[in-house]
Amino acid sequence: MIKSKRQFPDIPHFISLIDWKLPTIFRNRAKVAKALTIEDLAAIAKKKVPKVVYDYVEGSALDEVSYQRSKDVFSRAEFTAHTLRDVSKIDPSTIIYGKKVDLPILFSPTGYTRFMHHVGEPAVAAVAENNNLIYSLSTMGTTSPSELAQAVPGARRWFQLYVMQNREDSLSVIKQAKENGFEALILTVDTPVSGIRVRDIKNGLTIPPRIRLSTVLAIARKPIWWLNLFTTKKLEFAAFRGWSKSLVELAAVIFDPATSFDDVTWLQSVWNGPIIVKGIQNVDDAKKLAQMGVSGIILSNHGGRQLDRGPVPLEILPDVVAAVGDKVDVYIDGGIMSGQDAYAAIALGAKAVFIGRAYLYGIMAGGQRGVEKVIEIMKRDFINTMALTGSRNISEIQEAGAKIRSN
Ligand SMILES: Cc1cc2nc3c(=O)[nH]c(=O)nc-3n(C[C@H](O)[C@H](O)[C@H](O)COP(=O)(O)O)c2cc1C
Repeated sequence: MIKSKRQFPDIPHFISLIDWKLPTIFRNRAKVAKALTIEDLAAIAKKKVPKVVYDYVEGSALDEVSYQRSKDVFSRAEFTAHTLRDVSKIDPSTIIYGKKVDLPILFSPTGYTRFMHHVGEPAVAAVAENNNLIYSLSTMGTTSPSELAQAVPGARRWFQLYVMQNREDSLSVIKQAKENGFEALILTVDTPVSGIRVRDIKNGLTIPPRIRLSTVLAIARKPIWWLNLFTTKKLEFAAFRGWSKSLVELAAVIFDPATSFDDVTWLQSVWNGPIIVKGIQNVDDAKKLAQMGVSGIILSNHGGRQLDRGPVPLEILPDVVAAVGDKVDVYIDGGIMSGQDAYAAIALGAKAVFIGRAYLYGIMAGGQRGVEKVIEIMKRDFINTMALTGSRNISEIQEAGAKIRSN
């Protein structure tokens, strides 16, 4: 029988192992700091904001099938892995329109960000700046292009545009983007009409939130969120401030069901920087846009918030890249919730990925700190996956590739 030899306890060694921290009064901050995944942040977020806000972010259109499929597909990705390679130096950076970004993960445009957390768009853009990434401001932003430029002058900024029913209205927004140092325009084209978002209808979502009897109950449940709402600038579509239109009237003219390829040509005539068309869902449209000379396309189903049961962006990515990847940059979004999801898209040929809900969970959970945490988590996983697949830079990820398993 083997027996351990006993010795007198090594007290200094024992003390050196003690890892107790004093309890903090910033309990939420501590929770955010401890989050390991985007799902952890989403769970924190769910407790912080009213249901109507959380559902507005998480929900998508009709049966929410597109979105579920877009998310699920990432778990079927299988990476090619090379071992016995020196991975002591990993470089996840890439060049986008002549300038380096530190990670091929960019911020999608999301309307109404100050509804999720009062710090809103500038806080997300500040994280983009701190991490040398790109922030996209939505036409439906609650911060205007000039306010964003003033708040974070050093952040790389793109502006997301809808072709509005009156082209003069679009021009006025484009002018704001031009005057405030926005580098590129993202033209969203998957919104000829608005998607039908059942959760929002059931929740009676109105923008801005109306005070009903149920609101009083909601205030009692999430008093801090409401306090922040009432004590900060009023929620509005800031790019249209000063227009003599109500929010409802604005919402009705922001989408033009008559938008066509001719509008892309029109946009090329009024904007001389990069134009990236967002919401592409098939190879033929991608080919046509490549021929027209746009700078990039984003394969996207708007996070499932427009057409339900449409194609899954990751599944069409390889065919689109094969058809037009040498002519335009092909980006992708939808359901990207980890660095590994981003890795899968890059391995299948995407130039970079965009994240939407992931950073909104972060901001709802903990404001700017929550968004920082999102990037920290995604970067950690992305770099770790690079090391474990033996890919030292983006080209090597794409050389190695990935496949989508059938199960
Ligand atoms: C709350 C919310 C608001 C959004 N607002 C816009 C918008 O104003 N313009 C736009 O082009 N896309 C908008 N999107 C779509 C995103 O840009 C992006 O396509 C989508 O969120 C990607 O999926 P993900 O959320 O799973 O990352 C929005 C998405 C969410 C979740």
